[in-house]
Amino acid sequence: MFKDIKNSFPVYTKNPKLVFLDTAASALKPESVIKTINDCYAYEYSNIHRGLYSLSANLTKKYEEVRLKISKFISAESAENVVFTKSATEAINLVVETYSEKFFSTGDEVIISYLEHHSNIVPWHMASKKYGFKVIAAEITEEGSIDVKDLIEKINNKTKFISLTHMSNVTGSITNFEKISDVAKNNNIPLLIDGCQHIAHAPINVDNLGCDFYVFSGHKIYGPSGVGVLYMKDKWFDKLDPYQGGGSMIEKVEIDQTTFAKGFQKFEAGTPPIVQVIGLGASLDFLNQYKLKEIFNYEKELYDYAYEKLDSLNNITIYGQSNQKGAILAFNIKDIHPNDVAVILDQKNIAIRTGHHCAQPLMKRLNINSTARVSFGIYNNEDDVDYFIEAIKETKNFFK
Ligand SMILES: Cc1ncc(COP(=O)(O)O)c(C=O)c1O
Repeated sequence: MFKDIKNSFPVYTKNPKLVFLDTAASALKPESVIKTINDCYAYEYSNIHRGLYSLSANLTKKYEEVRLKISKFISAESAENVVFTKSATEAINLVVETYSEKFFSTGDEVIISYLEHHSNIVPWHMASKKYGFKVIAAEITEEGSIDVKDLIEKINNKTKFISLTHMSNVTGSITNFEKISDVAKNNNIPLLIDGCQHIAHAPINVDNLGCDFYVFSGHKIYGPSGVGVLYMKDKWFDKLDPYQGGGSMIEKVEIDQTTFAKGFQKFEAGTPPIVQVIGLGASLDFLNQYKLKEIFNYEKELYDYAYEKLDSLNNITIYGQSNQKGAILAFNIKDIHPNDVAVILDQKNIAIRTGHHCAQPLMKRLNINSTARVSFGIYNNEDDVDYFIEAIKETKNFFK
C-alpha cells in the first residue's frame, strides 16, 4: 500500500537517496500539501472572516471546512470544539495560562510526567511561579512509559489538573489513558493530552480518551508549520477567559471596555494562520486516503525490523521497550557521542536527530545527556532501515 509513496514527496525527486528518519521532529510534505499552499497564496488569498467580497468569503468557507475536517479526524463533538493556534506549544500555553489564572490557588498541584516534552513542562513551571501551585511528576516504568500506578497514587485533593503526553517523543511509548481518565473524571480533574507524536501515526478519538483538551501541531502530520490545533470540551469555552486580546475575538469594544466573542473565536485573536490551516486540511486529505490503523501497523513493522537489527549489534542501548509504542527508536552506541553518529550518517545522506529531544528531565531520569533517535513516517521502508543499519555498522568500525 505504501510502496510508491515516496513519489508523493517532492524532496525524494530532488534527492532520491535521502533516508529521512526524523519524522518525530517534523514530517516531510507531500506534493498535494505544497500545491494547495501555493495555489492558496497564488489564486485564493485574502484575509478571512471579514471581507464581504467573494475571494474572502470563499476562503473563509474553505478555512472553516478544515475545522470540521479536523473535528472528524479526532472524533470531536463538532467543529466548534476546534481552536486554531500557531503550534501545539501555543495551544498548551493557552490552556496553562487561562486555566491557571482562574482555577489554581497556592498549594494546588498539577501532575505531569517525566516523559513530557519541554512544551508540557516549561509552561507549567512559568505559571506555577505566577500562581503558586506545585508541579508534580509521575514516574516512568523500566519500559519507558508513564507509571500509571505512581501517577494515580499522586492524585489527591490538591490535584487540579493532569497534563500528559499521548506518545513520548523519545521512548515512543503510548500512554494508556483508560484508568487515568476514569480517575480524573471521578475526581473532577481536567486532563490535557499532548498528541504531537501520536496524531499522524494512529487513530484517535478524543471522547474515548476522556480528555478535556487535546493538542497537536500541523507540521508533525505532513502539514505546514505555523499552525496548531487545540481541541476543547464544550464546558471550557465559557469557563476560560481569552488568552490574547485583539481583532476577531470580540463581541463589542468600547473605548473603556470589551465583551468577548463566544466559542472558539474567543481564543483566536488576530489574523489567523490562514494558509497554514488550508495546508493542514490538505494534509488530512492526504492521510485520509489511508486507514490510520494501517499506517500504525506499517510503521510499527518497520520499527520492529529496525529494532531487531540494531539490537543485534554490540554495544547498543535502546531506550523504550514498551509493547504499546509508536515507531520511535532512541539509542546510544557505547563510547560514541550521538552527535558524531549523526554527522557520519549525514555524510551518507541519512537524517536522524540527536540531543536531549527537549526532554531534559527524562534524560536525567535515564542517566544520560542525549541519544540518537530514528523516527519513521509513512514514506520510510525496509531499504531505509537496511541502509541505516549498514551506516551504523560503518560508524562503529570507524570509531573502533
Ligand atoms: C511530544 C511533543 N510535544 C510537544 C511538541 C511541541 O510541538 P511544537 O514545537 O510544534 O509546538 C513536540 C515537538 O517536538 C513534541 O514532540
